[in-house]
Amino acid sequence: MASANPHMVFSDVHIAFAGKSVHAGVSLQVQRGSVHFIMGQSGVGKSVLIKTLVGLVHPDRGSITFDGTEVVGLSEAAFFPIRRRCQMVFQQATLFGSLSVLDNVAMPIARHEQVSMAVARQRAAEVLESLHARHLGERLPATLGPGLRKQVAIARALALNPEALLYDEPTTGLDPIAARRTDRLIRETSIRLGVTSVVVSHDLQSLLSIGDWVSFLHAGQLHFDGPPAKFFAATDPVVRAFVQAGSSSVGHC
Ligand SMILES: Nc1ncnc2c1ncn2[C@@H]1O[C@H](COP(=O)(O)OP(=O)(O)O)[C@@H](O)[C@H]1O
Ligand SMILES: [Mg+2]
Repeated sequence: MASANPHMVFSDVHIAFAGKSVHAGVSLQVQRGSVHFIMGQSGVGKSVLIKTLVGLVHPDRGSITFDGTEVVGLSEAAFFPIRRRCQMVFQQATLFGSLSVLDNVAMPIARHEQVSMAVARQRAAEVLESLHARHLGERLPATLGPGLRKQVAIARALALNPEALLYDEPTTGLDPIAARRTDRLIRETSIRLGVTSVVVSHDLQSLLSIGDWVSFLHAGQLHFDGPPAKFFAATDPVVRAFVQAGSSSVGHC
């Protein structure tokens, strides 16, 4: 969607690995505070695209701005403050196994804000509380199922008050109840904190329940860009095939 003040703008982004093109001129905008889905077949380059925002992948050509700042060509050091403002929640929620949930959330606060662990724990407890997860504080990650681990990973990402969260397949591998709980968490976070949420997913149920916008990638291009209702009603054969392939799981959770 085009607007005067988008949070993120991708313009003519080209990315190839070892001569094999993944993105051949992708342009799209993410609105501030929106829940913006990036969808497409496995291997189309969804993860690669969001990783460019935090400097984990570097485009060969094109421009990407975050809050008006060009990120293409930034040095590794220049990405540090951006990674704080724009936190990635990875597909495999990586938590420190030997630390309690509370300390997992407190660690980044202590490190980035140079406060004592006691102060960081207090803040971490508030973040967990706000996500209805205070009761998990003393648990070790290994004792949590994948849904709760995802919740803790989201809490940890939120601990530094980011303006944007990048979720890579947040509901993949979760049972339907945990998947819908994660959807609600993403939506609540977006509404309560005004965080811009970019959600890489192929979960049509998630899109239907919490999406404001969907950018669908196909064959290195932005193939569809619009609100979910238009996506589900699209007559385009590629979009229809994608929706039909995934729709057997929609509405049955
Ligand atoms: N660091 C990398 N080096 C080489 N190839 C990569 C790298 N990261 C991703 N790719 C390739 O880029 C393509 C897109 O990957 P990815 O963004 O992970 O797909 P998606 O998230 O849509 O499933 C795949 O063919 C993948 O193998
Ligand atoms: Mg991926």
